[in-house]
Amino acid sequence: MSLLAKKPLETIAAETGGDHTLKRTLTASQLIALGIGAIIGAGLFSLTGIAAANHAGPAVTLSFVVAAIGCAFAGLCYSEFATMIPIAGSAYTYSYATMGEFVAWIIGWDLVLEYAVGAATVAVSWSRYVVSLCHDFGIELPPHLVNSPFVTLPDGSHGFINLPAIIVVALMSTLLIAGIQESARVNSIIVVLKVGVVILFIIFGWAYINSANYTPYIPPNTGVSGQFGISGVLRAAGVVFFAFIGFDAVSTAAQEAKNPQRDMPIGIIGSLVVCTLLYVLFAHVLTGIVPFRMLDDAAPVAVAVDRTPFTWLKTAVKLAIIAGYTSVILVMLLGQSRVFYSMSRDGLLPKLFSELHPKFRTPYKSNLLFMVFVALFAALTPIQIVGEMTSIGTLFAFVLVSAGILVMRKTHPDLPRPFRTPLVPLVPLLGIGFNLLLMFGLGWENWLRLFVWMAIGFVVYFTYSRFHSRLTAGKH
Ligand code: ALA
Repeated sequence: MSLLAKKPLETIAAETGGDHTLKRTLTASQLIALGIGAIIGAGLFSLTGIAAANHAGPAVTLSFVVAAIGCAFAGLCYSEFATMIPIAGSAYTYSYATMGEFVAWIIGWDLVLEYAVGAATVAVSWSRYVVSLCHDFGIELPPHLVNSPFVTLPDGSHGFINLPAIIVVALMSTLLIAGIQESARVNSIIVVLKVGVVILFIIFGWAYINSANYTPYIPPNTGVSGQFGISGVLRAAGVVFFAFIGFDAVSTAAQEAKNPQRDMPIGIIGSLVVCTLLYVLFAHVLTGIVPFRMLDDAAPVAVAVDRTPFTWLKTAVKLAIIAGYTSVILVMLLGQSRVFYSMSRDGLLPKLFSELHPKFRTPYKSNLLFMVFVALFAALTPIQIVGEMTSIGTLFAFVLVSAGILVMRKTHPDLPRPFRTPLVPLVPLLGIGFNLLLMFGLGWENWLRLFVWMAIGFVVYFTYSRFHSRLTAGKH
């Protein structure tokens, strides 16, 4: 069998039922909540201010729209696949059916950047907000225990370990092991909380908008590409793209959806639409209250709330941010374990990644392993440097999924498609072009990191996976 061997769709279909697989319990609203749970996080609460101050000014609202359009192209392609191949694994599984084992391996390995590295990145931000909230209540956490060894502390010494990051990863992994329903329920509660606070900020903040802050709406370019002007709006779109990452995580739970054919597109597109609306309104209020140059702050919302009489909102916002980041970590860890679940069932990874807990029917060994990996990564490494790898890894997955739709329409034109991507080939082509463009915007350092990670993946594939592949062994 060659590297191009494709997994037959009949085999995929046969794998989705029975008592020995994941439980099908998620409803449409739980799927939308899963999407929102993964989407609203560090991107909105930290990057909006930075993108406005350095790249787009008040026009960061337009940057959100641009990033959302790119995601929508990919989201429509994800929806077609998720209804046609409704099993765990998302982009990995789709590629296996369309572009063959090797491309599938590349995408599965790449998704570790989106999900595991993404979870670690957000865990570090979570820890920072916990430190700050404790500080507000007069509790000072020991700096050596809340920073990695790569962080230089004010007294010149270095951090030792980021304990809060370990704790949140351990808690979320335990919840995932306890069950998909339990996880979805906790996620839904958090989503109500964080969306509630975002809406409160928009409503209370609206009266404090100073329209003078919107002139000029697109500040003139400084002469350097990416610093304001149209190029600045586009550069900011690349920055705030991070805020949209996560809607695709809905598709990793396809095998746990009650009615995936109907509910997958609702979950994917629904969460994307809700978040885009909230993001644009949120950015509008933020840049209306605070002159954009003053927003270069990791906690821009606090800067804005300080300009209103509602100081209580500041604590509420911090609490919502902490809760909000928790659900991002939860869904990212969920996505990661489901992708490796599928890869392991195909023999490309050791069996332990797909062994289900006899009672909870969750891939508990995988959850435990990723708990250790992600927690150590968050606790001990210079995570800021690898944070952008999350974006490049995700964009790469979007490009491959969009390309997969074009391939699938050629190879399997008659297959039932409960949801059809509109305007094929235009939408997938735009999905490929748009997301490639954002990838180029991320700079050569991130491309290099992507290549290094992929090179490690190739070693694993050619020394282990190829020889254990069930497809190659003729077991499919
Ligand atoms: N979209 C997620 C966030 O902004 C990853 O935190």
